[in-house]
Amino acid sequence: MNAPVPGAVPVIAIDGPTASGKGTIAQRVALALGFHYLDSGALYRLTALAALRAGVPTGDAARVASVAASLPVAFPEGRIELAGEDVGDAIRAEPISEAASIVAAHPAVRDALLDRQRAFREPPGLVSDGRDMGSVVFPDAVLKVFLTATAETRAERRYKQLMGKGLPANLQTILHDLRMRDARDSGRAVAPLQAGAPEAVLDSDDLTIEQVVSIVLERYRIAVRVQASGRSGGAGGSTLQD
Ligand code: DC
Repeated sequence: MNAPVPGAVPVIAIDGPTASGKGTIAQRVALALGFHYLDSGALYRLTALAALRAGVPTGDAARVASVAASLPVAFPEGRIELAGEDVGDAIRAEPISEAASIVAAHPAVRDALLDRQRAFREPPGLVSDGRDMGSVVFPDAVLKVFLTATAETRAERRYKQLMGKGLPANLQTILHDLRMRDARDSGRAVAPLQAGAPEAVLDSDDLTIEQVVSIVLERYRIAVRVQASGRSGGAGGSTLQD
């Protein structure tokens, strides 16, 4: 069932490839609407980190799934904690990005994280970002956005971000790694990264963060109006002209 359920806590699902800026956009949209925010990628990263720390090989689907099922995570005031330790930076390290992409391809790991993700859906609403938010986790999301940009643009953004932090960065290496991760996230058998409906696509190549945020907010307002007019039996199409 993919249609938004009347009365359900609204979800805005923002999916997209690596370094598409979906985390930044999702957080700002959540802030603007006063909604909760779920960074689903963090759960895969936390699973990878916890597995590596426990000496569980990332290729061992059953054992990694049991790590995922009993992950001692907490998100106090926006921090990301694993067993009480702030691991916000540790989960962004390159080896963990790589390991997260491997563990995310195991169906058993995805199953183990499903209910945990859905538990974030609380009033007044949720903005979630990831790869399968609109297709698997919240198929009844009131708005689904597929945020993308060319690999070159995304690599350049990541490069500037690292340089800005004074960290070593090589544009060609970043571009190569990003393409590898795109291929793995899109090519896996279960819950692959996919654009969904054509109208969901939002190409951010020539847009600023502020422009993308306002487009998402506008799409949300339209989606809510269409949903409300459908509920009251009105003609949904006419409200799009407002
Ligand atoms: O969004 P991110 O880069 O933090 O995600 C880390 C990894 O987890 C990435 O390889 C894709 C995977 N992932 C996923 O498979 N499904 C999600 N909903 C979120 C992330």
